[in-house]
Amino acid sequence: MRNNRKIMIAGNWKEHMDVSTASHFLHRLQESVANRQSIEVVLFPNVLVLQPLSVQLDRRKFRLGAQDGFYKDAGAYTGEVSMAMLNDLVHYVLVGHSERRHVFNENDDVASKKVQSAVRNGIIPVLCIGETLQERLSGETKQILHNQLTAGLMHLTAREAAAMVIAYEPVWAIGTGEFAKPDQVEEAIKYIRNQVSQLFGERTARHIRILYGGSVDDHNASAFIELEDCDGALVGGASLNHEKFAKIVDVAFKVQQKRMD
Ligand code: 13P
Repeated sequence: MRNNRKIMIAGNWKEHMDVSTASHFLHRLQESVANRQSIEVVLFPNVLVLQPLSVQLDRRKFRLGAQDGFYKDAGAYTGEVSMAMLNDLVHYVLVGHSERRHVFNENDDVASKKVQSAVRNGIIPVLCIGETLQERLSGETKQILHNQLTAGLMHLTAREAAAMVIAYEPVWAIGTGEFAKPDQVEEAIKYIRNQVSQLFGERTARHIRILYGGSVDDHNASAFIELEDCDGALVGGASLNHEKFAKIVDVAFKVQQKRMD
C-alpha cells in the first residue's frame, strides 16, 4: 500500500556561512534547484541569517527551519533564542541533533522540552535520534532509539506526533563520509515506525515522516530515499554545495513521482 507522505530533503548548514555568503549561496541554490512542488525542500541556516534569507527565499521551492530554539518563550536566558521568537520565520526546527547532544550536553529531557515548546509555538520539530558507534557495537542501537524517541515524543497528542519529522542520524555516520548501509537504515526506520505505532497507534505511524541523515551526498542519496519506509534525507556537508544539493532534490523528486504513480 502506498503512503501519502511527502518526501523531505533538508539541508542543515550547521555553523557555516555569514549573512553575505549565505545570501550569495541561496541565490545560486535557487538557480540550481528546480521547482518541485511534490516534495518539500527545507533549509536550516544559522539563526543570524534566517531573517535576511526569509526575504530572499523563493517560497515555491523552499521552506526555512531553525537549527535550534530554546524552550522558554522569554526571560533571563542569556544567549538563547526561543521557539516563540522563531515561529514567524520558520516551519521547522531541529531538536536533539547529535551535535547538540554531544557538544552541548543536551539530554533527552531538554530535547523533550524543546519538542513541546516547538509544537506549542506552531513549529514542526525534526527530532534527531541515533546511536554512537560504541552503542551500535555493543548491541544497544534499538534501546537508544527507543529511549530518545519516547522522551522526544512525551506529552504529545497523536495528532501532534503525526505531524512531526524524525531524523535517524547514526552518530558514527555524521560528517565522517562513512554512511550507514541501506539495510541498517531500513531496519532502524522500521523499528522507529513500529515504536511510534506502539505509542500512538498505526494511523500516527503511517503519517509521521522519518528521514535518514549521515554523510548523504548526490551519489548515495537514492539508496536511502528509495527505501520504502524512508521519507527523505537530512543532509549536512553536501547541502553546502548547490550542485550536489540540487541533484539530491532531483533524486527525491523522481522517487516521489514513482510513489505517486
Ligand atoms: P553530514 O551530511 O555532513 O554527515 O551531516 C549530517 C547531519 O548532521 C545533518 O544534520
